[in-house]
Amino acid sequence: MTSSLGLWIDRVRASADNRRMDVLTTPAAMRRWRASVTGSVGFVPTMGYLHAGHLELVRRSCTENLHTVVSIFVNPTQFGPNEDFERYPRDEVSDLNQLRAAGVGAVYLPSAADMYPAGFQTTVNVRDVTTRLEGEARPGHFQGVATVVLKLLNAVQPGRAYFGRKDAQQLRVIQRMVRDLDLPVEIVPVPIVRETDGLAMSSRNVYLTPEQRRAAPVIKQALDEAASAFARGERDASRLRAIISDRLATEPLANIEYVSLADDETLDEIAQRVDRPALLSLVVRFGPTRLLDNIELG
Ligand code: PAJ
Repeated sequence: MTSSLGLWIDRVRASADNRRMDVLTTPAAMRRWRASVTGSVGFVPTMGYLHAGHLELVRRSCTENLHTVVSIFVNPTQFGPNEDFERYPRDEVSDLNQLRAAGVGAVYLPSAADMYPAGFQTTVNVRDVTTRLEGEARPGHFQGVATVVLKLLNAVQPGRAYFGRKDAQQLRVIQRMVRDLDLPVEIVPVPIVRETDGLAMSSRNVYLTPEQRRAAPVIKQALDEAASAFARGERDASRLRAIISDRLATEPLANIEYVSLADDETLDEIAQRVDRPALLSLVVRFGPTRLLDNIELG
């Protein structure tokens, strides 16, 4: 029997299972669920308030695996003391309905008390790639992310885990951790999903006022201008960064926090010529809201 026929038979059996979606709320319950299923498992970690970007990760996982697990956990340890943990948007009912409709097999919804019980002492620190960009702007953020993702991977034990290119540095931190710690999981990067006007989808877009929302597509326009210049042969890193800054400067509501042109893997800033695959990434603030975006060059 070919493996694709085997997968097909498993799929028919799984869909006969009444499209039941299990909700697991503790690491122990999650591990029991994992031990009870056979066949490939894909995993999509999220902080909920799901939008089409998250659902694209879910769709990819459902296509490529027999079972898909999605976690929803607003992880307190990746938020700084003055960040938006308390007011981070949440809508569990809508999230669960969307995941059921997408054909997800299990949702992992742990509590902070179960994830970080009294006496919790261990953290994962990925060096170098976490020191710049978001790591510099948000000290401790990636230590919180790496630690929670390792805990989630240990509970779910997927063969594949899906991460969006929207959070480009986060993706590289997770890839580094998986390689360094020999984790038995394939990390699958998924392209950025955008609104029709180019704004990258994000749970935090709800913070924008209507006026800021109308102005926000300038970010993608600036990235596109730099990408076109690169396609025409521009390789000078400062000139490429300046194209972005100049375009953003035309929008009074946009405040640049950083514009980075860096080595695509290590995220070391490129000083002169772009002679290797590079990540052009930026954070622009509209009022207090930080919007992240990026494109890959070369
Ligand atoms: P969250 O911001 O909810 O994002 C969950 C996943 O969805 C991440 O991999 C993110 O890159 C991806 N994503 C978000 N918006 C996207 C878009 N417009 N297009 C494509 N993918 C998009 O990232 C986190 O949660 C957390 O840090 C987490 C990894 C869950 C750890 O707590």
